[in-house]
Amino acid sequence: MSQDENTNQQWGGRFSEPTDAFVQRFTASIQFDQRLYAHDIQGSIAHATMLETAGVLTAEERDTIISGLNEVKADIESGKQQWSIPLEDVHMNIEAALTDKIGITGKKLHTGRSRNDQVATDIRLWLRDEIDAIAEEITRLQTGLINLAAGEANTIMPGFTHLQTAQPVTFGHHLLAWNEMLERDHGRLKDCRQRMNQSPLGAAALAGTTYPINRELTAELMGFDRPTANSLDSVSDRDFAIEFCAFASMLLTHMSRMSEELVLWTSAQFNFIELPDRFCTGSSIMPQKKNPDVPELVRGKTGRVNGHLISLLTLMKSQPLAYNKDNQEDKEPLFDAVDTVKDCLRAFADMIPAIVSRKENMLEAAKRGFSTATDLADYLVVKGMPFRDAHEVVGKSVAYGIETNKDLSEMSLEELQQFSDTISADVFDVLTLEGSVAARDHIGGTSPGQVKRAATSALELVSNR
Ligand code: ARG
Repeated sequence: MSQDENTNQQWGGRFSEPTDAFVQRFTASIQFDQRLYAHDIQGSIAHATMLETAGVLTAEERDTIISGLNEVKADIESGKQQWSIPLEDVHMNIEAALTDKIGITGKKLHTGRSRNDQVATDIRLWLRDEIDAIAEEITRLQTGLINLAAGEANTIMPGFTHLQTAQPVTFGHHLLAWNEMLERDHGRLKDCRQRMNQSPLGAAALAGTTYPINRELTAELMGFDRPTANSLDSVSDRDFAIEFCAFASMLLTHMSRMSEELVLWTSAQFNFIELPDRFCTGSSIMPQKKNPDVPELVRGKTGRVNGHLISLLTLMKSQPLAYNKDNQEDKEPLFDAVDTVKDCLRAFADMIPAIVSRKENMLEAAKRGFSTATDLADYLVVKGMPFRDAHEVVGKSVAYGIETNKDLSEMSLEELQQFSDTISADVFDVLTLEGSVAARDHIGGTSPGQVKRAATSALELVSNR
């Protein structure tokens, strides 16, 4: 990065000494905001197009500017562009590169705008593209998850509360619970996109401009729904970036919960699932180890995304209207939040469909822990016993089971009848794990039939959006 220019050529007019070299570096953002180059050029092309219709540029000037900008873009993409710290940021670097190429006409591009509305426009354009890519990746993850769930609609596993065996559920049902979390995250992302899709261009520094600009036209050229309504708000607020990070935090929180379960399930103690070797790593000292690094890392990355949300909220909280240099600090947290979300989603979307379930182990685990105790109580209630008494009878049966090391489903009729003579042979219809899950046959329930139906409609939802 070159550092030999002294006084900034874009705003140096009123200065009597060059900026301190350290201050130049301290206040520059080109080191990281060069990432916005394509969207900066997209915005400038829209602006130049509009300036011609407003009579500020001639058609020839407009065309010279647009082809110059396209050349600058090509230079950036081929690695020819030399970014300069004294030129501070991506906006002034590109404008200077344009002027180098096309001469004095390049200096007309900035008519009727400011870097303040320019940067607000650029981040929105950039983030909108990233949001679209992220939305697709969520859909890919959901599709893999739902297909896996459909294939596991009959697989019985223990359902937990307090991480203690509670009632049997189907593995497919558990996976579809994850899908619901992701479905809401997708909705939050869509809301964020829809709210941010307004064009701040034309707000200029803060108060608008005296040129006869056409904000509807630039909004339309950039694919925004409309121009923003207030120039002061347009250049100052970064709530769209905060909202994106809030979405990212929520998504990663959900993925972290999934990760936690994946890590538990791959342990020797649970042994419910197998992750393919290509998503795991070994230990340099313990030859037997196969570590679930991918879910562990996703769980860990939640921390940095939560940190970015807090950074942006704190960045915004005391800013008076309108633009303040503080806002330059919005970019790195936002960029990293986007990168982290994309990496985590990619890892999960690739990994989830490759999960292999250990059905026998899940079934075995569901048999331990008296997971059909509630079913026995419900059975007694149906036979006319008050629920409190039924609770007591089942409690005694469980105590007996603990003593004799038997699950309820493994006891004989005679054994069960010691605790209540209301029990007869039909009790085994509800005491089996299969009977227990099949009986929960309503919308949102865990029965295999409901899980298959839920998977079908979930798949329809994600493939039609
Ligand atoms: N690099 C700046 C930013 O990221 C661009 C806007 C600068 N505006 C200004 N008046 N200094 O926020």
